[in-house]
Amino acid sequence: MLQVRDLNVSYGASQVLYEVDLQADLGEISCVLGRNGVGKTSLVRAIAGRHIATSGKVFWDGEDIRDRDPASRAKLGVAYVPQGREIFARLTVQENLELGFAAAPMGQRFIPKEIFELFPVLEQMLGRRGGDLSGGQQQQLAIARALVTRPRLLILDEPTEGIQPSIIKDIGRVLSLLRERNDMAIVLVEQYLDFALGLGDRFCVLDRGQIKLSGTVDEISSETVRDLVTV
Ligand SMILES: Nc1ncnc2c1ncn2[C@@H]1O[C@H](COP(=O)(O)OP(=O)(O)O)[C@@H](O)[C@H]1O
Ligand SMILES: [Mg+2]
Repeated sequence: MLQVRDLNVSYGASQVLYEVDLQADLGEISCVLGRNGVGKTSLVRAIAGRHIATSGKVFWDGEDIRDRDPASRAKLGVAYVPQGREIFARLTVQENLELGFAAAPMGQRFIPKEIFELFPVLEQMLGRRGGDLSGGQQQQLAIARALVTRPRLLILDEPTEGIQPSIIKDIGRVLSLLRERNDMAIVLVEQYLDFALGLGDRFCVLDRGQIKLSGTVDEISSETVRDLVTV
């Protein structure tokens, strides 16, 4: 289970997150919502280790991983699908997937068959260069690459951004399937509200670096979330 407590994040002298709390449990999709520039990416980068928080706690399975580097967090099962995907354009699909091996447990450094059940298009494209894929295919590849590491915490930063509706639907279906397995906590950053509201078990809304609202799907209504995000 992920528990973020009182997290403060700054870039130099400029603080962008203030005392942020977040929770994500196995078998759940926890959504981080909020307009552009409120600090969503900064929050998930601090969880994944791409940027070290100034203070606060990032508990993962009871251990505070706030100061660990990204590679050691990845080995603990933390996978991050960055905003903008970060696919290597000149590497093949296969090679992009194999980049996940470094963080995979020993004996599991292969591409699990399940990846191609989730994303059949990737199997047909294994020899193609990442840069030749459509945006939607690259997003699927980025998620697949994260899954190759066998994560127990999967963080996705705006996976629907700039992607055609049919692939957004596919990605939603994959996230539902992963949730059903009950062995993974999923943190979903989204600006596409209907997508998040359709999937989320838990929501938190950020505004100017602070949590404005958080709770489970039973505790807060989608209208309340919608009002906060769209005002
Ligand atoms: N690397 C960085 N250096 C300095 N400021 C940054 C950096 N990344 C983001 N910021 C600033 O931090 C704030 C939050 O940005 P970000 O976390 O990307 O928000 P969001 O993902 O919600 O759009 C913004 O004001 C942004 O300009
Ligand atoms: Mg962002």
